[in-house]
Amino acid sequence: MSKKSLFRYRNFSIFSLLFLSACIENAPMDSLSPAGPYARTIDDLFWLTFWIAVGVFFIVQGALVFAVFYFRDMPGKPEPKQIHGNNILELTWTIIPVLILAAIAVPTVRTVFDLAREPENALKVEVIGHQWWFEYKYPDYGITTANVLVIPEDTPVRLEMWSNDVLHNYWVPKLNGKRYLVPGQKTYLNLHADSAEEFWAQCGEYCGLSHSKMRGRVISLSKKDFENWVNNEKLDAQKELPEGSLAAEGQQVYLNAGCTQCHVINGVWDVQGDRIAPNLTHFANRNVLAGASLDNNKENLTKWLANPPEVKPGTFMPNLELSEKEIEALIAYLGTLK
Ligand code: CUA
Repeated sequence: MSKKSLFRYRNFSIFSLLFLSACIENAPMDSLSPAGPYARTIDDLFWLTFWIAVGVFFIVQGALVFAVFYFRDMPGKPEPKQIHGNNILELTWTIIPVLILAAIAVPTVRTVFDLAREPENALKVEVIGHQWWFEYKYPDYGITTANVLVIPEDTPVRLEMWSNDVLHNYWVPKLNGKRYLVPGQKTYLNLHADSAEEFWAQCGEYCGLSHSKMRGRVISLSKKDFENWVNNEKLDAQKELPEGSLAAEGQQVYLNAGCTQCHVINGVWDVQGDRIAPNLTHFANRNVLAGASLDNNKENLTKWLANPPEVKPGTFMPNLELSEKEIEALIAYLGTLK
C-alpha cells in the first residue's frame, strides 16, 4: 500500500469509527433512548424536527444539483433567464421557511411548557450541587444522601435544585433534558422513570477541575423496594460496634482522623447544619463513590482514601496521610453503614 493510500485508509477508518460510535447500543448516556414520559416528549420533538430537516435537506440539495446540471455552461448555450427581482419567487421562498419554522415552533413551545409544569403528587427531592458531587435531600422523609438518587418507578419526581458554590447542571439523558443549578436561586426539573432501572447522570456545565468526574446515578425501584429503602435510610447508623473488631477500629479513625470535619454519620456524629461533604450514614448501600466517578468497592475505596486529590483533582477532601492499617479499618467500618 502506498503512503498516500495508507493515509487515506487511516482517515477513512477514523471517520467510520466516529460514525459507528453513534450506533453503539446500551450506552448509559444515550439521550435517544428515552426511559420515561419527559424524555419521550423531548425525543418526539427531536424526531419531528429531524425529519422536517431531512425533507428540507433533500429538497434544497436536489434543487441545487438540478440547477448545477441543468443550467451548466455548454458551447453555444445561451445564458439562462435571470430571476433577480422576481417578487413571486422571493415571496415564495420567504413564506415557505416561515411556515416550516412556525410548524416547528408550535410543538416546541408546547414541549417547553409541558416539561416545566409541576406534576401532581410528585415526590419532592432537593438536589444541591457541590464541587464535585450531587447531594440529595428528601424533605418529606428527612433523608440526606449523595451521588445516587433513588426514586420510585412510574412516579413523577420534582427536583428543586440549587448550587452550593458555582454553576452546575443536572442531566439524566434518559429521563429529561438539562437544567442549571445556580448559587442562590432555585431551579426545577421533573423526572419520571417508566420502570425499575439504573440511569447515569452527569454535570452538564464546566464547573472546575473535576467537572468530568461530577457524575451521578439515578436508581428507580419498584414501589415496595422504594418504601423499604426510605425506611432504611431514616435509620441512624449503629454507634456500638463489637469491641475489638476492625469496624470498631475504623469508627475511631472516622471520629479522630478528621473525617468528622466534613462528613456526617447520623447517630454517630450528627452535628446540625450543612456539611460540605456527603452524608455517610448509609454509604455501603450506594454503588458509587467520589462523585459517582468510581464504583463502590474495596479497591477503589483504598485508592480514594489513600489520596483523594489524586483520584479527583481539586477535591476538597484532603489527603489525611492515613496508614494502610487505618484505611483497612475505615473500609471495614464504611462497609457496616448499610
Ligand atoms: Cu458540576 Cu460540572
